[in-house]
Amino acid sequence: MPKEKATDLTRLLRPTSIESAVLRLNPSTLSHAFGQQLLDGAAHLKPEFEMTLLPLISNRLQDPNLQRSNSGSIGLGSALSLFLASQKRAPKLIGEVGTYIGNSAAAMGYGAGMNGHAVQLITCDIHPCTQQPFAGIQLPKGSKTQVVQGSSTQMFEFLASKGAKLDMLHLDGRLMQEDLPLLRKLLKADTLIALDDCEADEKGHMNLDLLRRASLIKDHAYVEPFPRQLFQRWGLETRSVTGFLLPVESIKFTRQ
Ligand SMILES: C[S@@+](CC[C@H](N)C(=O)[O-])C[C@H]1O[C@@H](n2cnc3c(N)ncnc32)[C@H](O)[C@@H]1O
Repeated sequence: MPKEKATDLTRLLRPTSIESAVLRLNPSTLSHAFGQQLLDGAAHLKPEFEMTLLPLISNRLQDPNLQRSNSGSIGLGSALSLFLASQKRAPKLIGEVGTYIGNSAAAMGYGAGMNGHAVQLITCDIHPCTQQPFAGIQLPKGSKTQVVQGSSTQMFEFLASKGAKLDMLHLDGRLMQEDLPLLRKLLKADTLIALDDCEADEKGHMNLDLLRRASLIKDHAYVEPFPRQLFQRWGLETRSVTGFLLPVESIKFTRQ
């Protein structure tokens, strides 16, 4: 999209007085629209999801050797949301805070890999976690993961020292204050950000608040987790707690 148009959209999506708005797009309307388009656009990938990702995620969730009593992994609805969003965004470099048993990493890697290019994922955890989040999935040649056994700040410092820019970021841990100046270096206007636990006053909203206060997401629109009914289109009785920060420049008006 030409720069001018993107800027126009950015302005349109900024808060405006309610009286002057004829059509209002809020996190809920965006969620219905984004979720529906992702599911409809990826209908041909349903068998891949069902035959590969779904059993892999379920098996990891049931494996007592992988679990810790003080943590949890993402659910099916969040996994499908991450799979679809990364398939659509086609990130080459993905960053993640909160590796644990690697289900979210697998969902993003598998989704991104659907585009046929190598996927690089770097993920971190301050607690013991899997060292092979991509185990059990086939990815395009050259794809790789790096698991940082340490804090988000350590991982972001490493990425910043390499001059990296993230195409996608998944936050499934708690951001630290020290992360914010580093994220300023790592985020781009078109970085897709996914936030786990976006319900009530869980960590998703805390991370959202931190990013907002640090003025890191001025060009992003918050999309709340996809509604339960959307997953029924794929025959799944599940829900998601994954919210997204969509780059405004990736939202377009179209004629059809
Ligand atoms: C809910 S679990 C992650 C689940 C994982 N995404 C999955 O799908 O299996 C959250 C993890 O984030 C880690 N964590 C929380 N805050 C962190 C931070 N700032 N840096 C690194 N790890 C963090 C915790 O140790 C925990 O293991």
